[in-house]
Amino acid sequence: MQFDVVTLFPEIIENYCNSSIIGRANKLDIINVNTINPRDFSKNKHKRVDDTPYGGGAGMVLMCEPVFDAVNSIKEQKNSARILLTPQGKPFSQEMAIELSKKNQIILICGHYEGFDERIRQNINAQEVSIGDFVLTGGELPALCLIDAVSRNVEGALGKIESAHEDTFSDGFIEYPQYTKPYDFEGYKVPDVLLSGHHQEIKKWRREQQLLRTLEKRPDLLEKVKLTKEDKLFLDKHIKQK
Ligand code: ADE
Repeated sequence: MQFDVVTLFPEIIENYCNSSIIGRANKLDIINVNTINPRDFSKNKHKRVDDTPYGGGAGMVLMCEPVFDAVNSIKEQKNSARILLTPQGKPFSQEMAIELSKKNQIILICGHYEGFDERIRQNINAQEVSIGDFVLTGGELPALCLIDAVSRNVEGALGKIESAHEDTFSDGFIEYPQYTKPYDFEGYKVPDVLLSGHHQEIKKWRREQQLLRTLEKRPDLLEKVKLTKEDKLFLDKHIKQK
């Protein structure tokens, strides 16, 4: 999986992508993160990439030409996606991360300053993606969120692919609770079922915990997931008991 990130701040991308689990995947060539700086494509003698907005107003606007030239310098592979990070975009989700993990290449375009020239949005031929309803100073953190969430679904990036399969959202539910040693931490104990050695009981308890947590924290998700007959019976019983 190749990520090409068009950014004025390559060091932000490189620092993160050389650390921790993503750093290991990068070292093992499971993913490859490349940065392209529009400043290197500026034709201005001061290497400027931004200018004041037409019509007036505060702040600076990222110019078209260096961004188009940076994107056009990338060798596009088959099965690639172009993504422009912007708060106006489609909300990013686990579902999107899984879909994108099937691509060979993802080109990420980060804005900075007050915004970018509208002609970039209109003509760069990219999907617009947002990581939430808030405005950041640039697209670098959103690009990193996307790289991280996509990479952990690429085979071999995590120690064990199952650990991605059991995540919150990966099957549309919130994750079940996890515990490790000690059994008794200042009187707070691990649920006994997890020490029972009874795999069927543990599986059933985990499923019930997923259902309860999803009902409590994100009831909206229950509308979208497929519930089995047992799931429905359990939830109905729980709701009646309340
Ligand atoms: N750029 C600035 N804010 C953003 C956001 N919330 N999502 C994606 N890109 C952004």
